[in-house]
Amino acid sequence: MTGDRKIHRAAQIIKKGGVVAFPTETVYGLGADAFNPLAVARIFEVKRRPYFDPLIVHVANPSNVKKLAKETPSNAKKLIERFWPGPLTIVLLKEEKIPDIVTAGLPTLAVRMPNHPMALALIEESECPIAAPSANPFGYLSPTTAEHVRDQLGDEVDLILDGGPCPVGVESTIVSFLEEKPMLLRPGGVSLEEIESVIGKVDIPSIEDRPSAPGMFPKHYAPRTPIVLDWSQENLDPYQGKKIGLLLFQEPKDHLESHSVEILSMKGDLREAAANLFAAIRRLDAFHLDLIVAEPIPEVGLGRAIMDRLRRAASRGECHS
Ligand code: TXA
Ligand code: MG
Repeated sequence: MTGDRKIHRAAQIIKKGGVVAFPTETVYGLGADAFNPLAVARIFEVKRRPYFDPLIVHVANPSNVKKLAKETPSNAKKLIERFWPGPLTIVLLKEEKIPDIVTAGLPTLAVRMPNHPMALALIEESECPIAAPSANPFGYLSPTTAEHVRDQLGDEVDLILDGGPCPVGVESTIVSFLEEKPMLLRPGGVSLEEIESVIGKVDIPSIEDRPSAPGMFPKHYAPRTPIVLDWSQENLDPYQGKKIGLLLFQEPKDHLESHSVEILSMKGDLREAAANLFAAIRRLDAFHLDLIVAEPIPEVGLGRAIMDRLRRAASRGECHS
C-alpha cells in the first residue's frame, strides 16, 4: 500500500473511533479523535495509562487553537508563531466542548502542531484534532521507530503508520500559560534558551511544585534495567562481577570495560544524542544487564531534556509510572 493510501486508511480508522500509532518529529504517538471520548478511552486502555494523566491534543493548523482554547496569551502566540509546527506543546484554558477524558478533568488543555508530514496529513484527513500520548506502555520509554511500537503495542492498535525514525527523538517541550509567568512543565525538543529568546524568562518549577503537570512522575521513561547516572565507586560496588552496560554521551577517551556500550553521539552533538537516546536505552535494555551506567550530559540546549529523561529513568522513587 502506498503511503498516501495508508494515511487514508488510518484516517478512516480515526473517524470510526479507532486508535492509530503515527510518527511525529519527536516520538511516535498513539492517536484517536479528540472529540470521541470512547475512542480516547481506548488509548488509556491500550497504554495502561491512569485516567488522571491528561493527553496532548495535536492540530494541523495553528488557527485551530482558537477553537480549542478559551484565550491565547500574546506570549503563547509568539511561541506558536516561532516554533509551530514543531516540538513545543502549550497549556491553555480549554473550551468546554473538549471531553473531560482528554484532559483528565482539568480545565486546561495541552496542544501542539507536530512537524511531521505524516502526522499533519493524518490530522487533516481525519478532520478532527487528534489526542495522543507517546505510543509506549505507561512508564516505559517513548518509541522512536515503528518497530518499537510494533514490539510493545502491535496487537492492540488498529494500525501503525511507519514514518521511519523520529528526527528529534525526545518529546515536546511543554510550556504552561495558566499563571502570570510562563512555566516550563517539561524540557523537550525546543530548548529553554530558544524559548526564552522569544518570550523572556520562564519559570522552572522543581519536580515537587508541579501541581499542574499531573503526568510528570519522577519515575517515567524507565527501562526495565536499573539505570544510574553516578559513576562513583560506591554506587558501582554492589555490581562487582555483574553485567554492566554503558550509555555514553560521546566517544570515550579511554578504553572502557563493559558488556555493552552505546555512544549517543561520537562527536558529542546534543541533537544527535537526543535523536539516539531512547533507541540506545532500548538496545541496552534488551541485553538483560544488571545495570546501565549513563554518562551525565551538559545541561544546555537539548541536554536539559536528555538529562531530564535520564534522571526519570534512574529515579528509584515510588514507581508511579
Ligand atoms: O512530543 C510529544 O509531546 C509526544 C508526541 C506524541 O506528541 N507526546 C507525548 O505525550 O509525550 P505524553 O502523553 O507521553 O506526555 C504528555 C505530557 C504528560 O506528562 C501529561 O501529564 C502532560 O503532557 N499534560 C497533558 N495535558 C496537560 C495539561 N492540561 N496540563 C499539564 N500537563 C499536561
Ligand atoms: Mg509519554
